[in-house]
Amino acid sequence: MTRAQQQYEQLTPASRALFERALGSLPGGNTRTTIFHDPYPVYLVGGEGCRATDVDGVERIDFISNYTSLILGHCHPRVVEAVQRQAGRLMSAAAPNELEIELAERIRERLPSIELIRFANSGTEATMLALRAARAFTGRSAIATFAGGYHGSHDYAASIPADPSASPGGRGIPAAVADTVVVAPFNDIEGTRAAFEPRLADLAAVIIEPVLGSGGVLPATAEFLAFLRELTREAGALLVFDEVISFRIGYHGAQGRLGVTPDLTTLGKIIGGGLPVGAFGGRADVMALFDPRSDNPLGHGGTFNANPLTMAAGLATLAEMTPERYDELEALAVELWEKLTTLFADTSVAGSVTQAGSLFNLQLDDTASLHLALLSNGILLTGRGMGCLSTPMTTVEVDAFVEAVRLGLR
Ligand SMILES: Cc1ncc(COP(=O)(O)O)c(C=O)c1O
Repeated sequence: MTRAQQQYEQLTPASRALFERALGSLPGGNTRTTIFHDPYPVYLVGGEGCRATDVDGVERIDFISNYTSLILGHCHPRVVEAVQRQAGRLMSAAAPNELEIELAERIRERLPSIELIRFANSGTEATMLALRAARAFTGRSAIATFAGGYHGSHDYAASIPADPSASPGGRGIPAAVADTVVVAPFNDIEGTRAAFEPRLADLAAVIIEPVLGSGGVLPATAEFLAFLRELTREAGALLVFDEVISFRIGYHGAQGRLGVTPDLTTLGKIIGGGLPVGAFGGRADVMALFDPRSDNPLGHGGTFNANPLTMAAGLATLAEMTPERYDELEALAVELWEKLTTLFADTSVAGSVTQAGSLFNLQLDDTASLHLALLSNGILLTGRGMGCLSTPMTTVEVDAFVEAVRLGLR
C-alpha cells in the first residue's frame, strides 16, 4: 500500500465502513461509475459554499462541484430558498408550469442559437434526443463524434472508444448501433475529413464538445469548429454542440466565445442548479419535430421533464450568474493556472495545466496517487485531474489547492 493510500485510509474509516456496507447491495458498492476510485470514495454528508464534509467529519474544498454542476457552490442560500419555496407549492405534476417557460427564456437570452428548447432529466437524455432529432430531420442514420469526447451513457455515446484507434462499440451495445457511430480525431481537420468521407452521404449529425470537458479541458480551435460548420452545411448534416459542461465557461457558453453557431445545443449541469437536468434545443425547424400539434411528431415523454424543483433551482442559479460573475470566476481560474504552472516549473515536475473559463485540468502522467494525496490534504478533485471553480472561492482556496498539489507531488 502506498503512503498516499495509507494516509487516506487512516482519515476515512467511516467512508470505508459505508463502502463495505454498499458492497452488499450495489455492484462494487457503486451506482455511478464516474465517481468510483480505489480503494473507495469518500461519502459526503454536507456542503456549504465551496466546502464539503465527509462522514468522518473531514472538510475539503470542493473542486469537483458535482462534476462542474454547482457553479454557486453547495447550498447557495438563494437556490435553497427557491427550492424550499417550490417544494412547499408543487414538486412535480403532469402539467406544464410557468417556471419552464422562464428558464427557457433565460437560456435563449444567453444562447441565441437556441430558438426552441426542451427539458430532460440528464445530459445523457439531452444528447440522445438531439441525435434522434437530427436523424429524424435528415432521414439519415450516421452520427459522428470525436475521440476523447463524452456525451453520456446511452448506447450511441457509450460507443465512443477510450482508445481513439479502436472501433466504436462496447459490451452490450448492438453492432447495429455502433455501426452508425463514426469517431474522428479532435482538432484534426485532415484526420476528420478522412474519417467522415466514406459516411458523408448518410451523416445525420456531428456532435462535439466545443471544450472537451472530462476529456481534459481542451478547447476546440475556432478553425476546427468553422471547418465542421462548413462541412456539415455542405453535407446536409446538423452540427450539435454538447455544452453540458462548457456552458459554464462564459455567459454565452463556449459557442459565444468560439464564434461558431451550431444547429442544436445540449445542456445540463449548471442549468439545473444542482438538481437533475438536461436540455436540448436549437433551430426552430428542427425542434418543431417535437411539436405535438404537428403530423407525426417525435415523442419525448418524461415523468420529470421540466419538474418545478429543478426549474426553480436552475432559475435561481442563472440569476446569480451575471457576466461579471463569469469574469471573476475566470480571473480566479487564470490565477490558479499561473500558480500551478509556476509550481511545475519550480519543482521540475513534468506537468501542465489546461484551463478554459472556470474549468481546469492537471495534465500529469499519473494523477491517481496525487488524487489520493489531495483527498488527504483537504481537496476534492476528480481522479483524472479535472476540476472547476465555484463562485464562493477566492485566492484563499486557490492557494490551498496549489499547496496541496505541492505536498502531493513530493
Ligand atoms: C459533455 C457532456 N455531455 C453529456 C454528459 C452526460 O450528462 P449526465 O451525466 O447528466 O447524463 C456529460 C456528463 O458529464 C458531459 O460532460
